[in-house]
Amino acid sequence: GEFTPDEKHHIVSLWSKVNVEEVGSEALARLLIVYPWTQRFFSSFGNLSSATAIIGNPKVRAHGKKVLTSFGEAVKNLDNIKATYAKLSELHCNKLHVDPENFRLLGDILIIVLAAHFGREFTPACQAAWQKLVGVVAHALAHQYH
Ligand code: HEM
Repeated sequence: GEFTPDEKHHIVSLWSKVNVEEVGSEALARLLIVYPWTQRFFSSFGNLSSATAIIGNPKVRAHGKKVLTSFGEAVKNLDNIKATYAKLSELHCNKLHVDPENFRLLGDILIIVLAAHFGREFTPACQAAWQKLVGVVAHALAHQYH
């Protein structure tokens, strides 16, 4: 597989402590605030006019939870991530037309949110494993684009 036993341990043990709704909604809100051009994909979500509006937007919260729940599928299938995301890659590519660069941006935002939540527990070795994971997920989601 792509991940060493140590990397798998870091990924799975941190994931078991993640509050999916809290971290997922914060990550999506930060994506929309830090990289405002990503808002155009979510025009149906209503008020995204300020950081406060985005953070308080229930559709952002719900969708952030949905995205991070889906990330959990990668955690459960670390040896099979590409197949796990085949359908979602097709959706984001052919139907939603999301530029795959945005998958990398969301991955980096997720790392920052995990660091903020877990502090010193998010050690360099733990970050390295998660950095690898978000890269593999972004690659898998971009697969249908090639
Ligand atoms: C929908 C996952 C990144 C834009 C979805 C859905 C999932 C998902 C599970 C719901 C699919 C369904 O309803 O069947 C992910 C994962 C990502 C990711 C795991 C990790 C990198 C992004 C990014 C963008 C994006 C970076 C745009 C900047 C969308 C949009 C929808 C969607 C617009 C449809 C929303 C709606 O109207 O309900 N995504 N996504 N996704 N995603 Fe992603």
